[in-house]
Amino acid sequence: MPIISLAIQKGGSGKTTTTINLAAALQREGRSVLLIDADTQANLTQSLGIIDEPERSVYTELKKEIAGESSDLQQVIVETKSGLHLVPSSLELAVAELELVSVYGREQLFSWMLEQLRSRYDFIFIDCPPAFGMLTVNALVASDHVIIPLQGEFLPMKGVQSFIHHFHAIKKKLNPKLNLLGFVLIKFDERINMNRQICGQLEREFGSKVFHTHIRSNIQLAKAQEEGLDIFSFDKHAHGADDYKALAEEFLEKLETGKVSSIKENTE
Ligand SMILES: Nc1ncnc2c1ncn2[C@@H]1O[C@H](COP(=O)(O)OP(=O)(O)OP(=O)(O)O)[C@@H](O)[C@H]1O
Ligand SMILES: [Mg+2]
Repeated sequence: MPIISLAIQKGGSGKTTTTINLAAALQREGRSVLLIDADTQANLTQSLGIIDEPERSVYTELKKEIAGESSDLQQVIVETKSGLHLVPSSLELAVAELELVSVYGREQLFSWMLEQLRSRYDFIFIDCPPAFGMLTVNALVASDHVIIPLQGEFLPMKGVQSFIHHFHAIKKKLNPKLNLLGFVLIKFDERINMNRQICGQLEREFGSKVFHTHIRSNIQLAKAQEEGLDIFSFDKHAHGADDYKALAEEFLEKLETGKVSSIKENTE
């Protein structure tokens, strides 16, 4: 089933928050979801209440692949307080960026590692680090779709141009099936001029790739992370819960329409 990366090299864009809460919203709709923390900061792992366990992480399995042995991600999956399945990260993952450089097939390791798990979940989400290094490349090569969360400000918009450049290179050379599912504006406030301008600019450039659902600023989202919970388990009446529920609905719709148009493309 589809693998979706949340990526953009700009830090603090809402990748981790969107990974957790979009996944939790889908889980509430009865979908099975696996989360992969591919960030050395291990924010996803910590925000879901899991203590950094160096002996059970994405790195312990990646290390086996780097050494030419076979890995088993299934072994390191943990269940979070919210009942989400997670492959945790650990600070040691930082070493992988260096180790991967000299490995054959270095861009494909995540693809192989995730292949066995694909059929067991409706969706697999990968939370990427804020850099375009080997971990992000691996995540994008393993993915069917990428979602780009960003704040409606000038600097994140600069980051988009550079990300799109890398996206095209990966699509051309390493993963032709990679689809840009869309941009999600986070900490969005309709009253702020800059937020509206950036949204307009994205829509002019990328059209329907911009999600109609915007995630408003909501302190409960940050507090939920402190408690190691998703927003629905922490405060289901918060704006953040409404917004991520709406995002999950739009996400499912986008995937459905995408399927129809790719079937059409194939038969035309
Ligand atoms: N809609 C929101 N309202 C208020 N705070 C938010 C919202 N979305 C995210 N945050 C907070 O903003 C901060 C950055 O978000 P997050 O960690 O999701 O970004 P990120 O892109 O994963 O960052 P990094 O690139 O460092 O991994 C976090 O403290 C998070 O709790
Ligand atoms: Mg993050």
